Amino acid sequence: MAKFNPFYRLDSQHCTAIFDCQGKTPALLYFGKRLSKYTSDIMLSQLATRQEVKCAAVLEAPISLSPLLGEGFTGAPGIELTNESIAWSLGPTLQRVDETNGNGLVFISLDALRGVEVTHHITLDYNHNVLSASTRLTNLGDAALQVNYCAAPSFPLPDNMNNVVSFEGRWSNEFQRQPVDLFLGAFVRENRKGKTSHDVFPGLLMHNDGAGEQFGECFGFHLGWSGNTKLRAELLPEGRRYVQMGELLLPGELTLVKGQTYQSPTLYTSFSEQGFSALSRNFHGFVKANLLSDEQQRKARPVHYNTWEGIYFDHDIETLKQLADKVAPLGVERFVLDDGWFKGRRGDNAGLGDWVVDKEIYPQGLAPIIAHVNHLGMEFGLWFEPEMVNPDSDLYRAHPDWVLSTQNNEQLSFRNQLVLDLTRTEVVEYLYQAINDILCEYPLIKYIKWDMNRDINHAGNFAGKPAIHQQTLALYRLIDRIKSAHPGLEIESCSSGGARVDYGVLAHTDRVWTSDSNDALDRLEIQRGCSFFFPSSVMGAHVGPRECHITGRNISIEMRAAVSLFGHMGIEMDPRELTDHEYNTLKSAIALHQKYRDFIHSADLYRLDSDGLSINFGLINQDKTAALFAYNSVRETPRTAPNKLRFVGLEADTQYTLNLVWPVIFDEYRPSAIAAVNGQTYTGEALMEFGLQMPISFPQTSLIFSLNKCH
Ligand code: GLA
Repeated sequence: MAKFNPFYRLDSQHCTAIFDCQGKTPALLYFGKRLSKYTSDIMLSQLATRQEVKCAAVLEAPISLSPLLGEGFTGAPGIELTNESIAWSLGPTLQRVDETNGNGLVFISLDALRGVEVTHHITLDYNHNVLSASTRLTNLGDAALQVNYCAAPSFPLPDNMNNVVSFEGRWSNEFQRQPVDLFLGAFVRENRKGKTSHDVFPGLLMHNDGAGEQFGECFGFHLGWSGNTKLRAELLPEGRRYVQMGELLLPGELTLVKGQTYQSPTLYTSFSEQGFSALSRNFHGFVKANLLSDEQQRKARPVHYNTWEGIYFDHDIETLKQLADKVAPLGVERFVLDDGWFKGRRGDNAGLGDWVVDKEIYPQGLAPIIAHVNHLGMEFGLWFEPEMVNPDSDLYRAHPDWVLSTQNNEQLSFRNQLVLDLTRTEVVEYLYQAINDILCEYPLIKYIKWDMNRDINHAGNFAGKPAIHQQTLALYRLIDRIKSAHPGLEIESCSSGGARVDYGVLAHTDRVWTSDSNDALDRLEIQRGCSFFFPSSVMGAHVGPRECHITGRNISIEMRAAVSLFGHMGIEMDPRELTDHEYNTLKSAIALHQKYRDFIHSADLYRLDSDGLSINFGLINQDKTAALFAYNSVRETPRTAPNKLRFVGLEADTQYTLNLVWPVIFDEYRPSAIAAVNGQTYTGEALMEFGLQMPISFPQTSLIFSLNKCH
């Protein structure tokens, strides 16, 4: 007798998910706008009735949570298995459905003939409308089972979802949105870099025609995983469409012997009928409530100083003290000593792996610089790149066999470094001890920047097997172990900028380094792309040097500061080179950030649709009594005057007082519109429907306005 109902329904504040259990295995019948109680699952099931089409199967194979070859599915199977026998044609049957605490369901299916159990775990976060879904496989048979692929649950989509937006990039230009019209067949992106990668962020948006930031129906999908991934949005010939994401497994990477289990990474998805910004707000709320620790949520994010673009490898205790002396009065709250502090590290050609303080540069260890920094009222943070080793290091000389490699193949050279094999327990033990020793010797190190600066091109471990899956899990465990041994320690996930930014790693860390580009113009797009899934509180954003080291561009200190103050703010430059004007401006910007920091990191984000001339957004508190809006002009306007800024998201009837809060001194061409409106009061309606004329300014100018409800 069946131990389950024909349908299961989960509701959140704004979404409903309905699962259909009438078939052999469960399938998603509906995920979208919250349905009223009068709409029943049976209604939807009937309305979805399909009929035989010409020259096709009488009954279409379902797009089940894991659509299968055994079910006759001719799209992409959600699970691909092989063994000596017939595992390839897996055909499980639903056995049981468990309702779990926290608005969740577990569907347990069994293929008794092939000895495989498949379970699907689903949770719908009530407050934030984000559905988390994963698939688990267990080998119950005697023969070893080769797992070629096991995607997270597949999501069929409504037939108005015609548009895909993926996020691509490169070093120093991550999170670039790439729109594509859905076409017959599959839009597929694969990442084989062994880390999340700059080029293929494991996330997608699907939306209806014409959707924008405030209007339209859209779904967001993100696979929380820091290894290899495969993303797919497919339109089948009969018009059905679905999204499927999973870990990309290399040949022979995963074998399950009897009793062993594989759990797919979690797919996070949400729906909005009010455009992309509302979708992002769901994800932001979800991240804050579920992936960040309570402590992290309570603590204000300290303003950073990072030494990298200031001095690179040129470490010297006197220089560092000078830097600290310079940045502390700016309002900096945490001093992060980047690459270059450990044994033999004078450039990027040596030292990785030897995690002991270089006594030539630091004869008394790090204690004097930590004490100096602390004395100035700043916390101290330190850079590591634990997964890597330079061949020119004591570690490599002692253990040349500790690296990932493939037999008889030459390693591609990449920043003079190789990847350690974290599937060897002695390697993980060594790294744990090395990092732990530093943290025990210097308990006032409160922060680690955890970097990862090459692709894993040769993923073979000590056993000769591809090991990205195990390597990624070992990384998560190592981070957790270090954190639990040092309560309160915060860790930033960095990988040559934003090549390891995903919910998988974020569940174990506290902040991400968004990009190595500190160019404010590039950053506007990078941060905007990142903001589709990540809240500003985790997004590292630094004010870089006057002449950007990556692009060579000169952007005013006012604009550089305005762009970084909307993330987790920091500065990264040689502060001794600042002019008085730059120094004072930076100080004011940090003060402004600190004044609004809690607001910036807790308010709701409203990105404005871009006209290509300016990149604008607003932050509004939940009761809509206060807001900050940023206008960033990036190009010269084709007309002599710029466009108006049309505000969004405000309460139409509320009276708001408008003030320009940045820059402190706005160098106007002539007395302009700003003088006329500053300090005046407007209804939300006027600001949203009519808009505010932007002043004549240089093309690269940032203005920040505050709005406060009048009482
Ligand atoms: C990577 C990081 C940088 C810096 C360098 C140090 O490129 O993204 O921020 O830490 O490594 O080598």
